[in-house]
Amino acid sequence: MSETDLANITDLDKLERHINKCVACPLAETRTKIVFGVGSPTANLMFIGEAPGFHEDQSGEPFVGAAGRLLDQLLDTVLGLSKSDIYIANVLKCRPPGNRDPLPEEIEHCRPFLRKQDELIVPKIICTLGKHATSVVLRKNISISRIHGELIHVGRRRLFPTYHPAAGLYSGATKQLLIEDFHKLKYLLSVDDEPEPSSDESQEQMDLFGQ
Ligand code: URA
Repeated sequence: MSETDLANITDLDKLERHINKCVACPLAETRTKIVFGVGSPTANLMFIGEAPGFHEDQSGEPFVGAAGRLLDQLLDTVLGLSKSDIYIANVLKCRPPGNRDPLPEEIEHCRPFLRKQDELIVPKIICTLGKHATSVVLRKNISISRIHGELIHVGRRRLFPTYHPAAGLYSGATKQLLIEDFHKLKYLLSVDDEPEPSSDESQEQMDLFGQ
């Protein structure tokens, strides 16, 4: 599945059909369902998680387990939004067996899919959930406790890293930080802070995903 194939894809439905046939890595043999992503194709806000877990693999939808319920709660109570107002995708589209961390080669197989989702949706803000998703998008190993809750401008794109909701299930202090970050996100979504247009948009697009 080459980048050239993806270049001809102009909408999310076609992209999903394309990804549904993916056998680029061994996760294709162990997955139940591909978890493509859900939400509005014109969302201002796109969340990026790490990889499907057990429930997501069974249902084909991201964030339907306990972490997803906390995400729903934060969306509802802080942002006043539901899942249909935003877009949610994962770095990996298939579940790693036993919920192990994604392997570097799995991330690289899936990276063009995530970049294409971003290219088709063009959200105002991308919110990465946790250290892994943020490190993948920025292509460097980051500490989420250092960079969460701050807007990062990458070319014309805006990235807002926060904790993974699963971390908020285990620590009340982290849940509180998530709540505070979501309040910042609410403010950022409410202000018109469009960066200056760039002379080379394709380059800026690629920069966010570190190509
Ligand atoms: N954790 C993630 O990162 N993604 C999901 O879809 C579910 C749990």
